[in-house]
Amino acid sequence: MANSSEHIFVIFGASGDLTKRKLIPAIYSLYVQKLLPENFALIGVSRTALNDESFRSKMKTALGEFNEIGDKSFEDKFLQNVFYQSINTENADDFPILKNRIEEIRKELNIGGNIIFYLSTPPNMYGIIPQNLAKHKLNDESDGWKRLIIEKPFGYDLESAEKLRDEIMANWNENQIYRIDHYLGKETVQNLLVTRFSNGIFEPLWNRNFIHHVEVTSAESIGVEGRGGYYESSGALRDMIQNHLLQVVSLVAMEPPSSLEPESIRNEILKVIQSFRSIDKNDVRNVAIRGQYISSKIKGESIIGYRDEDGVAQNSMTETYAALKFYIDNWRWGGIPFYIRTGKRLPTRVTEVVIHFKHTPHFLFKKNGAPNSHNQLVIRIQPDEGILLKFGMKIPGQGFDVQTVNMDFHYSDLSVGRIPTAYERLIHDAMKGDSTLFARTEEVMGLWKFLTPVIEAWKDEKDIPLYGYPAGTWGPERADDLIDDPNMTWRYPCKNLTDDVLYCEL
Ligand code: BG6
Repeated sequence: MANSSEHIFVIFGASGDLTKRKLIPAIYSLYVQKLLPENFALIGVSRTALNDESFRSKMKTALGEFNEIGDKSFEDKFLQNVFYQSINTENADDFPILKNRIEEIRKELNIGGNIIFYLSTPPNMYGIIPQNLAKHKLNDESDGWKRLIIEKPFGYDLESAEKLRDEIMANWNENQIYRIDHYLGKETVQNLLVTRFSNGIFEPLWNRNFIHHVEVTSAESIGVEGRGGYYESSGALRDMIQNHLLQVVSLVAMEPPSSLEPESIRNEILKVIQSFRSIDKNDVRNVAIRGQYISSKIKGESIIGYRDEDGVAQNSMTETYAALKFYIDNWRWGGIPFYIRTGKRLPTRVTEVVIHFKHTPHFLFKKNGAPNSHNQLVIRIQPDEGILLKFGMKIPGQGFDVQTVNMDFHYSDLSVGRIPTAYERLIHDAMKGDSTLFARTEEVMGLWKFLTPVIEAWKDEKDIPLYGYPAGTWGPERADDLIDDPNMTWRYPCKNLTDDVLYCEL
């Protein structure tokens, strides 16, 4: 029987981008911090013909480019425990080759039977690989645990996600499956829980009595960056909202868990998702806005439109921007709107949650020209990670003029040094068997179910507009109309947490 942490880490899709950009740098960072078990090996698997040496050399180059931790002195030693096996993962008959290789390495390095299989392949392989592993008993836990880490997207819609679930669950148990959503690995996303549940001042206000609405934005300034082929079958709703943004909403909206046990937290997350009010398909045009970036000039540089990107159809109807208004039907949030939006080629890269509080019951200072201002708490997930509270203060001098001022905290002020990357945190958690930050089957199905009316309406109802927006702008202006209160708009955040102007310096 294996010791509880030693294991072999197998990456399917090892010749792909994610492996070199994120996985290898994250695992190397764990190695440098001595967070990998003493007996450990990594086997890269894909169809590409490589051997141990050529794979190591590729990974060395990758670390040269994407090393997260800075310290390069352990690279060669780390790579000694990295191996490569080429197989055709579609073909079950190739799996004995992998099985034998795992056995060989286990014996050579004295590693027990624990194995993690990381699926970083195109999504159409997520059903097949677990099946093929099971055919050769590589799911059998009699000699040590076997875990599957599965990248997103888990399915394309509710139906395909259910099919994939059934294919995988035919041979694997829920506690063997780790569905990764890298947003949950972000330090600042986890800090949502700490902000809410470790401070006496926020939680009493965190409900429909004091909050006017909640806004979540995840903007990117980049376009599809050569991933046009993938993005065409995805779009902003599937790529960002179905997973990252709605997971963030769940953490903002969940009830306090009774403990930090994974199931205790995941049960609360599931309850929120189950309380999302169903969207009526006929109402989609009023509560969801889609857009697609068109060519424009940013700082004198011409930016091509989405339809001119590689791998994108000239008449593509894929949305690169999506905004949604919805409600959570429970005691805490009844009647409070949630507004979420995401898009590519927006003015800046920023992800944040804004809690807009209700205004005071009576505007004492209105006559003096004070704006009817609402306090805002901005929780910045990236960049310039931190928290900003906006509130009114008297302008010194005659009368009672009020202006909104900022109180801000920046993570960079903490002297903890480096913030671990999301992949580092999540891979380490999976190695420890901690599933808190991974999405459970019912959560993923619940999120697909919630978005089904929008997916269907955008597919079937051709008269629902797909607004063009010039690259470098905040998306379709029509998204402003989603916000019910005519005196309120989305926040227009900049790179710096404390700045908000319509067009910030890039
Ligand atoms: C990925 C999406 O899941 O998240 C990408 O597929 C997106 O399209 C990325 O660019 C954003 O992640 P981050 O961590 O840069 O906000």
